[in-house]
Amino acid sequence: MAETKRTIAVIGGTGALGGGLARRWAKAGHKVIIGSREAGKAQEAAEALKGEIGGDIVGMDNGAAAAAAEIVALTVPFSNQRPMLEVIKDGVQGKILIDATVPLVPPKVGRVQLPEEDSAAVRAQAFVGEGVKVVAAFQNIGAEHLNSDHHIECDVLVSGDDIDARDVVVGLVEDAGLKGWHAGPLANSSAAEALTSVLITINRRYKIIGSGIKITGTPGEAA
Ligand SMILES: NC(=O)c1ccc[n+]([C@@H]2O[C@H](COP(=O)([O-])OP(=O)(O)OC[C@H]3O[C@@H](n4cnc5c(N)ncnc54)[C@H](OP(=O)(O)O)[C@@H]3O)[C@@H](O)[C@H]2O)c1
Repeated sequence: MAETKRTIAVIGGTGALGGGLARRWAKAGHKVIIGSREAGKAQEAAEALKGEIGGDIVGMDNGAAAAAAEIVALTVPFSNQRPMLEVIKDGVQGKILIDATVPLVPPKVGRVQLPEEDSAAVRAQAFVGEGVKVVAAFQNIGAEHLNSDHHIECDVLVSGDDIDARDVVVGLVEDAGLKGWHAGPLANSSAAEALTSVLITINRRYKIIGSGIKITGTPGEAA
């Protein structure tokens, strides 16, 4: 169980990645607010997940979910990142915003296509302003894994300009059953976002369900 119980809103929590994070965080003992464009859909998803795993889970429309939470995770398609940021902008002020957006541009999702701002997370930070601590994470973990109960071998790169906020998110990665690594400033999110297209290509070539990355080396062994 998590050491500190948080209230986390998952914007787009009715979807694949958000649903998986909601599931894992609720199982770790956090209060989870599933967000959707439709409050009724969010409530249905919350009831279904609660019926399956128990826990403290409710559903709200995205704007209300962001306002009611302590930490907000954004898990919507890249094409909808900006409209959803407009909906949650007021509600996330003063909070940590975890951005899992990958700038995939169909149909060539196996090709790296970063936005002109360098990354989707940097673009999010510019839009919501300095009052929000944007931390980028979870771009390289397949939702299939989060939606299962199996042990996940994949690591998560966590980038953000506020080290304390990054530290909180590294803890939430671990609560979700994964290893999280401090990966530097938010600008470094471009590396994780780009890597997703590489992993999609590997999944297709080798018929893998949700390939991921693993950092090697032993923490503390260097002087
Ligand atoms: N799937 C993965 O394995 C994975 C892994 C790493 C990162 N990601 C990234 O995480 C984000 C979410 O991926 P996903 O696969 O979970 O997406 P998804 O299931 O297709 O969509 C997530 C949610 O976003 C909302 N949404 C869908 N279309 C929308 C629209 N036109 N406008 C506003 N909201 C819309 C929907 O919620 P409501 O209809 O309830 O509003 C939907 O349930 C993406 O940026 C993706 O690149 C995904």
